[in-house]
Amino acid sequence: MADIVSKRAHYSPPWADVCIIGIAGSSGSGKSTLSHAIVSKLNLPWVVILSMDSFYKSLDAEGSRKAFLNEYDFDSPDAVDFDVLVDRLRDLKAGKRAEIPIYSFAKHAREKETTSIYSPHVLILEGIFALYDERVLELLDMKIFCEADADTCLSRRILRDVSERGRDIEGCIKQWFSFVKPNFEQFVEPQRKVADIIVPRGVENRVAITMVIQYIERKLIEKSKAHRAELRKLGQSSEDD
Ligand code: C5P
Ligand code: MG
Repeated sequence: MADIVSKRAHYSPPWADVCIIGIAGSSGSGKSTLSHAIVSKLNLPWVVILSMDSFYKSLDAEGSRKAFLNEYDFDSPDAVDFDVLVDRLRDLKAGKRAEIPIYSFAKHAREKETTSIYSPHVLILEGIFALYDERVLELLDMKIFCEADADTCLSRRILRDVSERGRDIEGCIKQWFSFVKPNFEQFVEPQRKVADIIVPRGVENRVAITMVIQYIERKLIEKSKAHRAELRKLGQSSEDD
């Protein structure tokens, strides 16, 4: 009897086994477009995109003053609250609900409200530092690095930051050359080394997207088989008792 109890204690239900895909790459390289393309091609009900934008740290008054002058370094890993990110990812991996902060790029601050994520089948974590923290890497089932030319990244970023993030062109260019570009070389690009796949040309790269989809589908089938085998084993040990 004690044996069954200990086996049950180790039993993990299928919803506690989220498949987590990390997508890193330069700002403007197409990470979030690639994530949406993967979601729309995956024929599954519970696929969620978690953007690392949600985990920028709150700023003090001096930090905020600098941010509005485009003089704050948001491209250093120090700007990201990895502890909270790891905590939330572990909750989701354990099948629990996670409260996710909402970030405003126009205000350079977290909103008061949060949003809830209920443990999905597949979680796509996208952000410039998605493959940076060892604790996050341990939780990932697949690591993707999204690549694009620097001029493509810069032009995409300017268009987006002006239309969606309340910025002006001069500020975008200043921030790019002060922080985004040098920190890409120092911190973002080295993540290529830990990636399982490097995707050049983002969403245009249909072959890479098909490979990613097939990998996820295979992974889910394996997990479902392992789950059924675990259930059968448990059933047998109850009958033997
Ligand atoms: O979506 P994307 O990967 O471009 O988002 C990351 C970028 O957001 C970083 O390169 C950082 O410079 C920028 N950022 C910003 N203002 C903030 C927080 C982040 O411009 N308040
Ligand atoms: Mg983005």
